[in-house]
Amino acid sequence: MDKQTHFGFKTVDESEKADKVAEVFHSVAQKYDVMNDLMSGGLHRVWKHFTLTTSGVRAGDKVLDIAGGTGDLARGWAKRVGKSGEVWLTDINSSMLTVGRDRLLDEGMILPVSLADAEKLPFPDNYFNAVSVAFGLRNMTHKDAALKEMCRVLKPGGKLFVLEFSKVWKPLSPFYDFYSFKALPVMGKLVAGDADSYQYLAESIRMHPDQETLKQMMLDAGFGRVDYHNMTGGVVALHKGVKF
Ligand SMILES: C[S@@+](CC[C@H](N)C(=O)[O-])C[C@H]1O[C@@H](n2cnc3c(N)ncnc32)[C@H](O)[C@@H]1O
Repeated sequence: MDKQTHFGFKTVDESEKADKVAEVFHSVAQKYDVMNDLMSGGLHRVWKHFTLTTSGVRAGDKVLDIAGGTGDLARGWAKRVGKSGEVWLTDINSSMLTVGRDRLLDEGMILPVSLADAEKLPFPDNYFNAVSVAFGLRNMTHKDAALKEMCRVLKPGGKLFVLEFSKVWKPLSPFYDFYSFKALPVMGKLVAGDADSYQYLAESIRMHPDQETLKQMMLDAGFGRVDYHNMTGGVVALHKGVKF
């Protein structure tokens, strides 16, 4: 029998998870940006801005954005590295990547784009100065394999940035639960015509490793100097690690 994993609160065969995740993102791609602003009250822009501005990424750097979707971080990295740098927008999902690519093109930004599975990255060893993954790791079947791949493609001294939902500060959790399990699916239905995908979002957040567990996973994948910064009471955490 196939090994089991989680798809939200459901237990599924490992071989089924990627297809189920793909269904979610094919379904929400066109409404993804508007839903992101609506659901987070615009806060996702602050979380991403913090990631970019505290990164230390400089002009001329090579940056890989994994699970980059509609391109928020890739756009930010491209502005920081300038013309002498190189930024790749990658995602496993063609619908999300198409929206991202078109959006960047509409803004006059031509970046290399690649349909890529984080668990099998099509890039050489020791190539990038920085790798980012925002709200993507949670959806991956083999997070340990993906983190190892991220480590492999980084140059020694290169940095990984994992921006992801995390374990919320306990006093906030009743409000957060109400919002996630009652309000989000309704918003998803009204705006994106899809309650189930937003129910999955809420469930997948609860199933994702907490701050300390993810830190340990990054250490196990070969990163050093791993640390994290909580934002909005732990709704989101930014983990950083360095490849030695
Ligand atoms: C919530 S979206 C995040 C998009 C973008 N990074 C952002 O912050 O707005 C999650 C993305 O992860 C992608 N994803 C899921 N599994 C993946 C995998 N194994 N490899 C690469 N991307 C993956 C999905 O296709 C989706 O576009």
